[in-house]
Amino acid sequence: MHRLSRRAVLAGGLAAGASFGRVVPLLAANQAERSLRYIAGACGIRYGSAAMASQLLAGDSFTDLLVRQVAAIVPENEMKWLHMSTAPLQSDYRMADCLVDFAMAHGLLCRGHNLLWYWSTPKWFKELSDRATARTAMLRRVTDMVSRYRGRIDSWDVVNEPVDPGDDRADHLRADVFLKQVGPEYLSLAHTAARAADPEARLVLNECGVEYDTRGMDRKRAAILDLLENIRKRHIPIDAVGIQAHLSVRRYPFSEQKLRDYLRRAAAMGLEIQITELDCTDDLAPPDIPARDRMIADEYRRFLDVVLDEPAVKMVMSWGLSDRYSWIVRHENTPEQRRPDGTEERPLPFDRDLQRKPAWHALAEAFARAPTRDRRPRTEHSTANEG
Ligand code: XIL
Repeated sequence: MHRLSRRAVLAGGLAAGASFGRVVPLLAANQAERSLRYIAGACGIRYGSAAMASQLLAGDSFTDLLVRQVAAIVPENEMKWLHMSTAPLQSDYRMADCLVDFAMAHGLLCRGHNLLWYWSTPKWFKELSDRATARTAMLRRVTDMVSRYRGRIDSWDVVNEPVDPGDDRADHLRADVFLKQVGPEYLSLAHTAARAADPEARLVLNECGVEYDTRGMDRKRAAILDLLENIRKRHIPIDAVGIQAHLSVRRYPFSEQKLRDYLRRAAAMGLEIQITELDCTDDLAPPDIPARDRMIADEYRRFLDVVLDEPAVKMVMSWGLSDRYSWIVRHENTPEQRRPDGTEERPLPFDRDLQRKPAWHALAEAFARAPTRDRRPRTEHSTANEG
C-alpha cells in the first residue's frame, strides 16, 4: 500500500467514496489535497473538531494534522463542570485554558462545551439542599465561565441535552438535576446569565437523538421544536440549535424528509444550526475494513447531504479527528456496543495512523457540493425576538 503514490491512494479513496450511495462528482485532485477546513470554508461553513488538552500538549504529528484540517476546536471534556469542580464554588481552569489558549495561538475558533449538562454535574451541586443556594451556584458557574472566556468563545452550549420527551412534561424538559435543584426556570436563567457575561458569544441549545427515523426521535424533534418556540416567545436569548450527530451504521432507519423538516423549522425561527459532535459507530458493520469504511462514509454522506443543503447550518464539528482519539474507540459511549469481532471501531475522518479514510472524502465531497452561505458576523445576534 505504501508503495502506491499519494495521488493513486487519494484517487482510490475518492472512487471508493463515490461508488456507494448516489453518484457524486469527484473532487479535482488538487481540491482533495486541501484540508476540510479549506473546502468547508469555501462555501462559508466552519469545520472543526473536538480535542483534548493532552492531545495538544503532545505537540506531535497529530497536533500538526489538527491545525491543518480544522478552523475550530471544542474541548472534549475539559470545560465540563464535573471535570473542573470537585468542591463547592471551586473550579480548576487549567485544562480549559490550555485549549482556549491553543485555539487563540493558532487562529482557530473555539466552541464552549458545555456550561450545564446533567451527565457531568459535580456531586456537591447535586447534594445542595436548598433552591436559592443551588440557583446561585448554577449562575455562578455560568457567569464565571462565560466571562473568563469572553471574546474568545464563538458559541456556548449553554445547556447540553435539556430535552427528554420520556419525562412527559408539558415543557419537554428532562427531569434532571437542574430541574430538581433549581426548577424549570433554570434554562432561561442560564441563557440570560450567559448573554450578559458575553453578549457576542452565540448561545446554543445542543441536543442528541434527532438524526434518524424512529418513534423516539420523532418525539424528540417535536419536543425540541416546541421548546425552541417557547424560548422565542418568552424572549429568552438564544442563537443556535446544535445537532450532536452521533451517527451509526445499520442501526436506525433514516428519513431525509423528517430531517429536512426539522432543520427548516429551526431555521424559520431565525436560529443558526450547528452540527456539534459528528462521528459514526460501526459495531453493526461487517469486519472487512474497506467495506466497513465505505458504509461509514455513506452514512456521513447521506446525513451531510441533507443538513448542508440547509443554509442555516454554518458549523460542522467532528467529535475527534482521528480514530486514535475517539470516545467510541475508548468505549465511553455505550460500553455494550462493541464490535463482535473485537476489532477497533473506525468512526472518524482519519485512521489511527492519521491517514485519510473514505469518511474524510465523504465530508470533503459534501462540503464541496454545499450551497454557499453568508457568514454571519460574530457580533450580530438573531435579536428579532429578543426583549
Ligand atoms: C463524551 C466524551 O467524548 C467522553 O470522553 C466522556 O467520557 C463522556 O462525554 N454528548 C456530548 C459530549 O455532549 O460531551 C459527550 O462527550 C458525547 C455525547
